[in-house]
Amino acid sequence: MALLPILRFPDVRLKKIAQPISCIDESIRRLVNDMAETMYEAPGIGLAATQVDVHKQLIIIDVSEDKSDLRVFINPRLEQCEGSQEGEEGCLSVPGVYEKVERSQRVTVHYLDIDGRQQSLVAEGLLAVCLQHELDHLNGKVFVDHLSLLKQARIRSKLAKKARVTA
Ligand code: NI
Repeated sequence: MALLPILRFPDVRLKKIAQPISCIDESIRRLVNDMAETMYEAPGIGLAATQVDVHKQLIIIDVSEDKSDLRVFINPRLEQCEGSQEGEEGCLSVPGVYEKVERSQRVTVHYLDIDGRQQSLVAEGLLAVCLQHELDHLNGKVFVDHLSLLKQARIRSKLAKKARVTA
């Protein structure tokens, strides 16, 4: 296993559209393991392959408190989004920034598991938020894109200042 570097907003590679995975082979299984190690180390509750500069339709999520519920979603598709909820979101690609984003309360996701079996899951609450957030990454979007242009500008200048300090 290995820790992978995480792309930081506003890196243009975060805008790439992820491609479907046609074959779940050893390299995909290794990527899942490396992404899990990277997510837990960060620490975070979700990570999309896009964030580690691999533009394939793969996300991992663990919303448990004790890192005991790793979920792997390959070629995920959201359907039946219902209701709405608003919660504060953060992102490993946008460190130190937390903002409220409106999301669906309940979603159904169709996907392949790590063994290539077709699965579907109905998710609510935090897991539903996390799925929508990570699916956005596969479509080249970060949560900042949901905010007003004024807030986006503030975040860009905050991150630019921070980059100058740490560079
Ligand atoms: Ni994110």
